[in-house]
Amino acid sequence: MADTLTITDNRTGKQYEIPVTDDTIRAADLRQIKVDPDDFGMMSYDPAFLNTASCRSAITFIDGDKGILRYRGYPIEQLAEHGTFIEIAYLLIYGDLPISTELAEWKDELSQHVMLHENIKKFMEGFRYDAHPMGIFLSTVGALSTFYPQAKDIDDPVSRRLQTIRLIAKAPSIAAYAYRHSAGKPYVYPDSELSYTGNFLNQLYKRTEPVYRPDPVLERALDVLFILHADHEQNCSTSAMRNIGSSNADPYSSLAGAAAALYGPLHGGANEAVLRMLTKIGTADQVPAFVESVKNGKGRLMGFGHRVYKSYDPRAKVIKATANQVFEVTGRNPLLDVALELERIALEDEYFVSRKLYPNVDFYSGLIYQAMGFDPSMFPVLFAIGRTAGWIAQWEELLGDEARKIARPRQVYVGELIRDYVTMGDR
Ligand code: CMC
Repeated sequence: MADTLTITDNRTGKQYEIPVTDDTIRAADLRQIKVDPDDFGMMSYDPAFLNTASCRSAITFIDGDKGILRYRGYPIEQLAEHGTFIEIAYLLIYGDLPISTELAEWKDELSQHVMLHENIKKFMEGFRYDAHPMGIFLSTVGALSTFYPQAKDIDDPVSRRLQTIRLIAKAPSIAAYAYRHSAGKPYVYPDSELSYTGNFLNQLYKRTEPVYRPDPVLERALDVLFILHADHEQNCSTSAMRNIGSSNADPYSSLAGAAAALYGPLHGGANEAVLRMLTKIGTADQVPAFVESVKNGKGRLMGFGHRVYKSYDPRAKVIKATANQVFEVTGRNPLLDVALELERIALEDEYFVSRKLYPNVDFYSGLIYQAMGFDPSMFPVLFAIGRTAGWIAQWEELLGDEARKIARPRQVYVGELIRDYVTMGDR
């Protein structure tokens, strides 16, 4: 017998058998529950989608209580230890780790599309010298849709592959130029001898030396951070990507919207907010007073808590280990002591323990980025480079989903039912 959920409507005494699949009922099946035949039918009310699955997905698995994160079935710890970002991007988008010929082709295609059109550079030059790099990043990604109008043909797999490659390849170039623009430095052309992440460092930091060679420890650390940020199932920005994509918008416009969602301090802007918070706290002895102020409702402990993880974020564990490797090269970030003391106190404090608030991916990433020379305003942009792979993977999956329709939530209307227009003099 098929699994069903029996619902009794006390208003009418009627019973309904609602099919259950994957521990889930379809919200549309509730519509048959009516008091009168003319009723619209029952809806579910779920602000912020706390308990609503918006799609079926085979990309990322999270068990928030157990602290498990897997991409396409592979544990994040293994991917971070053995994989490279571009390999993992391929895995997310195409479903399997690439064999050597596929990886070679993927690498080659990516390196051919790293450059930005000269007009895109001119477009970026129009931003004020102090423009936030994330604002530059998301606007420029949106502007790419005007450079590649064939991207509108979302049903053509050849075009989709081309736009996918362009987005993954150009995201670091846009990010690097956003940074150099704010620093008043000239654009650096890519070096195809370097890895994806090595070339990004080249485009960021090259000065007058004829050839830039990144430090291998820092290059690897940044690559690992890209892997850790690459996907996280139906979070705020990915949902934005899918929502916009559901209207058949081109991938550049959809990704610009996803990047805008990532910009917020509760999402990808959190690592920037963590660094500002640690800087404001200043020294480890100030931590207890700060924790008290958070408990008294004066702000949040940034980098703590997660909608899905109710235990230690598995990405935070990998990042903490990576931080030690980076500090061996760059010297210890003095704010690390503040962070460690915050973590120690918070993990013992009843307020945080009872609410299951643990460090998330962003708690330590900002310290690494700062030690590597990044300004905090670049932190969300670095997140966006990694997440570009996940956004595209989720968009691809959406386009192949036979249940796809334009996203259009319902509402519970609570306003005035009807009123007559009142002229200005009578209000
Ligand atoms: N500091 C202090 N209290 C907190 C925090 C925090 N960071 N996070 C949650 N709480 C409290 C909150 O005040 C509430 O308490 P009460 O029940 O007394 O009202 C309770 O914990 C539940 O909070 P919530 O806002 O209902 O939880 P949520 O699942 O809606 O929010 C969150 C998740 C990530 C937005 C939130 O934990 C937060 O604001 N964290 C700080 C920002 C941050 O680090 N964001 C990065 C998330 S990881 C990167 C990413 O994937 O984007």
